[in-house]
Amino acid sequence: MGTKQKTVIVTGASQGIGAGVAQAFLDRGYNVVANSRNITKSGAFNGSGQLVLVDGNIGESAVAAKVIETAISKFGSIDALVNNAGIFFAKAFTDYTAEDFKALSTTNLEGFLYVTQGAVKQMLAQKLGGSVVGITSSLVVNPIAGVSVSVPMITKGGLEAVTRSLASEYAKEHIRFNTVAPGVVDTPLHRDNPKDFLKTLSPMGTISTSEEIASAVVYLTESRQITGEVLHVDGGQHNGKW
Ligand SMILES: NC(=O)c1ccc[n+]([C@@H]2O[C@H](COP(=O)([O-])OP(=O)(O)OC[C@H]3O[C@@H](n4cnc5c(N)ncnc54)[C@H](OP(=O)(O)O)[C@@H]3O)[C@@H](O)[C@H]2O)c1
Repeated sequence: MGTKQKTVIVTGASQGIGAGVAQAFLDRGYNVVANSRNITKSGAFNGSGQLVLVDGNIGESAVAAKVIETAISKFGSIDALVNNAGIFFAKAFTDYTAEDFKALSTTNLEGFLYVTQGAVKQMLAQKLGGSVVGITSSLVVNPIAGVSVSVPMITKGGLEAVTRSLASEYAKEHIRFNTVAPGVVDTPLHRDNPKDFLKTLSPMGTISTSEEIASAVVYLTESRQITGEVLHVDGGQHNGKW
C-alpha cells in the first residue's frame, strides 16, 4: 500500500465488532465505507467527508457491487476490506433447519464472496497490493462441549480455509488475507447470554471488547509481512482444555 490516504470497506458496521473496527480506522485517518442492512437508520455513525454508509444485505451480489462502486466513486481506491458481517447461533446439530443453513450461508459465505471478489479486482487494477481481514471464531479449532455451533462452524471454518487459499493465490500481487478469531466478545450478539456463563468459555475467564478485536484487525491490515494467518484474540480459548 502506498502513502496516499487509504480506503477501507467494513461490512456489518452498525454495531458490535464492526462498529469498533470502522471507528478504529476512522481514528487512524482512513476513508471508510461502512455497510450493514440498516446502517443509516442505526444511528451508529453520521456520514462525513471521511465516511460513507451503504445500506443492504451484503449476501446479495448487487449490494456488494454497490459497496465496491461507492468506495471507488467517493474515494478513488480500495486498499483494505474487513469482512465482519456475520450471524451465529447455537443449537443441537439435528435442530438446524434448511432456513437456518440458508441464512448462515447467505450472510457468512455469500457476504464474504461477492464483496471480496470486487475488492480483489480493484486491488489488482491498482497494482498496490491490499489487505482482506475476516472475522471467524476460536470454536473452529477448539469446540467446547455444551456450546453447540456445528453448522455456523461450516461457514467460519470455510472462511479460514479460503483465507489460506487466497493468501497463496494472490501473494505475488501482495494482496494479503488474514482472519481474527475471537472468543467471546461483548456485543449485542450476546445480549441474552449471562456474562457469568460467557466468562467460563476461556481459560483467562475474560470477555473481549470490540476495541480489542478492532486493534487486531488494524494490526493485520497494516502488517505487510503477514498473510494466511488466523490471529486468535480469545483469552486463550483456542489453546486446548482448561
Ligand atoms: N460477539 C462474539 O462473541 C463473536 C465471537 C466470534 C465471532 N464473532 C463474529 O464477529 C462478527 C461480528 O459479530 P458481533 O458480535 O459484532 O455481531 P452483532 O452485534 O450481531 O453485529 C452484527 C453486525 O452485522 C450486521 N449484519 C448482519 N447481517 C448482515 C447482512 N446480511 N449484511 C450486512 N450486514 C449484516 C448487523 O447490522 P444490520 O442488522 O444493520 O444488518 C450488525 O452491524 C460476526 O461475523 C460474528 O460471527 C463474534
